Amino acid sequence: SVGNSTNIKWHECSLNKTDRQKLLKQKGCVIWITGLSGSGKSTVACALGGSLYHRGKLSYILDGDNVRHGLNCDLSFKAEDRAENIRRIGEVAKLFADAGVICIASVVSPYRRDRDACRAMLPAGDFVEVFMDVPLQVCEARDPKGLYKLARAGKIEGFTGVDDPYEQPLDCEIVLSHKGGACPSPCEMAEEVVSYLEDQGFLQ
Ligand code: PPS
Repeated sequence: SVGNSTNIKWHECSLNKTDRQKLLKQKGCVIWITGLSGSGKSTVACALGGSLYHRGKLSYILDGDNVRHGLNCDLSFKAEDRAENIRRIGEVAKLFADAGVICIASVVSPYRRDRDACRAMLPAGDFVEVFMDVPLQVCEARDPKGLYKLARAGKIEGFTGVDDPYEQPLDCEIVLSHKGGACPSPCEMAEEVVSYLEDQGFLQ
């Protein structure tokens, strides 16, 4: 049995991930972009998706905000619901990777153990964690959706970075840093990820 499911048995098909990867001329994987709200996750995800597209590589973005409009619309921002949000996104991302697609998840994912659980779902090397290393003050100054302002005014409870924790990665594959005034552009950040994917043989 698996979780609450009993009397279930895994069914194998004759076509597998390797066949699909050959067809697509790429390797399926998960690029997991984590960071504070306003750190630029979605912007980098879109730039990365665009760059891959122009190289003829198929990717798909699972954006936290967007997935909460459908699949995860029943979940709040309490720790246990965030964990379930991340678990579901991890499972969906794993399916995309198995389909041979480069799946880009852009989610706050503030808890290390939730991200590590997603990493553990995939074969070693197929989970690429990308940390948007942007200071809270910078994210808050940007405040693209006005949410920090609302959180500071006490109108949103449990806002990540304000009155809810963000556990930054200790040992991730890529750190995209905002270094003082010299912040790389989203395209430059995306290219850093593309180079990593090239070096690791995901783009073939
Ligand atoms: S999480 O923590 O991974 O479950 O969050 P995620 O699914 O990525 O959703 C984050 C977006 O939801 C908005 N939002 C909040 N973020 C953090 N904390 C609280 N309390 C919250 N309430 C709403 C916010 O717009 C996040 O979008 P981004 O793109 O990160 O700014």
